[in-house]
Amino acid sequence: MRALITDPAAPGGLRLGETPDPVPAPDEALVRVTATSLNHGEASLARQGAPAGAVLGWDAAGVVVRPAGDGSSPPAGTPVITLGMAGAWAEQRAVHTGMMGTVPEGADPGAISTIPVAGLSALRALRRLGPVLGRRVLITGATGGVGRYAVQLARLAGAHVIASTGDPAAHGDTLRALGADEVLAGPENVDEPVHGVLDMVGGHHLVAAYDRLAPGGTLVAVGRVTGEGESFPYPMLSGDRGHDRSIVSFYLPGESGLGPDLTWLAAKVAAGVLTPQIAWRGPLDKAAEAIDALLGRRLHGKAVLDIA
Ligand SMILES: NC(=O)c1ccc[n+]([C@@H]2O[C@H](COP(=O)([O-])OP(=O)(O)OC[C@H]3O[C@@H](n4cnc5c(N)ncnc54)[C@H](OP(=O)(O)O)[C@@H]3O)[C@@H](O)[C@H]2O)c1
Repeated sequence: MRALITDPAAPGGLRLGETPDPVPAPDEALVRVTATSLNHGEASLARQGAPAGAVLGWDAAGVVVRPAGDGSSPPAGTPVITLGMAGAWAEQRAVHTGMMGTVPEGADPGAISTIPVAGLSALRALRRLGPVLGRRVLITGATGGVGRYAVQLARLAGAHVIASTGDPAAHGDTLRALGADEVLAGPENVDEPVHGVLDMVGGHHLVAAYDRLAPGGTLVAVGRVTGEGESFPYPMLSGDRGHDRSIVSFYLPGESGLGPDLTWLAAKVAAGVLTPQIAWRGPLDKAAEAIDALLGRRLHGKAVLDIA
């Protein structure tokens, strides 16, 4: 099959080439991939140290070609949404049936392919905050793939949504249209305490966001795009300005029971309740161009690669 293969000698570290077809385990279905989307993490991996000859890619929309041998997958011909730790940047992938959801007939595969990592991370991280109806929720890195789903889902859940971006002038209208009540240039500009934070940025953004948490509030540390460490100045972790404030780490591959959430998110995107926020779309062999833009902070939202 054709796939995007890591190759340190190729421009951008990737080349389109031939690789053996995947061989599914009994609890995996074989899926023909029709679209995949890029995420910050795998884009960084493609640029910084994936082994040569690997087929990367976490998110894919497609159609079941051969159902799982143990009977746990939908039948052949079913449109599906899939998540895996590799193998999505290819014409076919083998997918564990617990990392697969079904998709309404006729849904755009490109739109569906934006969901797995970004949509699931936003959904599962938001749930860590508990009920958010009528509560203030801060989302950092709000213009990114995870952030845009987080803003929409927090709004859907009834939160007062505060979106943080490095450039509110450029992205304010878009974020408000997605459901943000306020758009700010960084957590340090939040004026009143918040019940919860979904932090996609890390470093000093995480520290400033923690400082804005109300007593009993939770910050979910989802991402670290800055690559910075965190230093909490004394007495930020001491008692008098707020207590019982929590920082919870988050790791999507450690989550279980993802299939029903994939199906739910796919239905919401297909119905137009959630928008996929596709900022770039092209063929598989143009992936390096999209990766450059994503890592260079010039592409905000999701990049989709169509696979013929
Ligand atoms: N823990 C997990 O399981 C998990 C799951 C999914 C994602 N993640 C992580 O979550 C993070 C976000 O993922 P994503 O796919 O949404 O990434 P993304 O699409 O690249 O979005 C990240 C956003 O952060 C902002 N940003 C980028 N570089 C920055 C910098 N140096 N300083 C401050 N802000 C910066 C940008 O917004 P502005 O330019 O508008 O400021 C950008 O839109 C990544 O670190 C990713 O690896 C973790």
